[in-house]
Amino acid sequence: MGDIALAVIGGTGVYKLADLQDVQAHDIDTRFGSPSGPVRVGLLGGQRVAFLARHGEGHSVPPHKINYRANLQALKDLGATRVLALNTVGGITDACGPRVLACPDQLIDYTWARISTICEEPGTEVLHVDFGDPYTHLLRQQILAAARATGVALVDGGCYGATQGPRLETRAEIRRLRRDGCDLVGMTGMPEAGLAREMSLEYACLAIVANWAAGCGTDEEITMDEVLANVAAASAGIPALVEALARG
Ligand code: HPA
Repeated sequence: MGDIALAVIGGTGVYKLADLQDVQAHDIDTRFGSPSGPVRVGLLGGQRVAFLARHGEGHSVPPHKINYRANLQALKDLGATRVLALNTVGGITDACGPRVLACPDQLIDYTWARISTICEEPGTEVLHVDFGDPYTHLLRQQILAAARATGVALVDGGCYGATQGPRLETRAEIRRLRRDGCDLVGMTGMPEAGLAREMSLEYACLAIVANWAAGCGTDEEITMDEVLANVAAASAGIPALVEALARG
């Protein structure tokens, strides 16, 4: 089995990678248990690319129940070293309205009671990994370059606030996130990024803005139909970007 040039984890509304050819499904059992579903490995622009739907292919796993450790370990067991995390998010600040793609460079973790380390099994050496820059610098640069090369508009930087979900936030919670400096809000950014660092995986986030977060931009109710329609529209350029990223 050859190397995997890139692994992609898809979020809400992204359950497969368009254009992936000769796909093989891998049902993998890891030392942390089972991932959310099969890892699909195929060819994209001649490169081997792995894809995993974070919530399962039928979106049956809520954010706090995702086995983030198994998901990352499954990709690693297949030989992946670079992980592109697609995260569907709400937008808080002006540059991050619906249908925007953003590549954040910071995050704040508001999640709780999730298994957030690979070091909790008895006898495991405790790691205190550096997490000052939660996303891999080089991979972020490669994502930005791939976006430029394919003409995909991307906001460079921003802070991702990871909330517990599965409910959306109150307006007061979003006001607090804004005061804290968050530009984006989503439910799956952590512990995934921290675990990737512990596992020595290169990891970066491509956030897909599906809606204005509560109380931002519009007063209208956020519906799942709106979320999915905006994700579909915003994702149009992603296959080309992923192909360019896999090549580079
Ligand atoms: N909040 C949290 N997560 C989300 C949102 C939101 O508004 N939209 C999509 N994922």
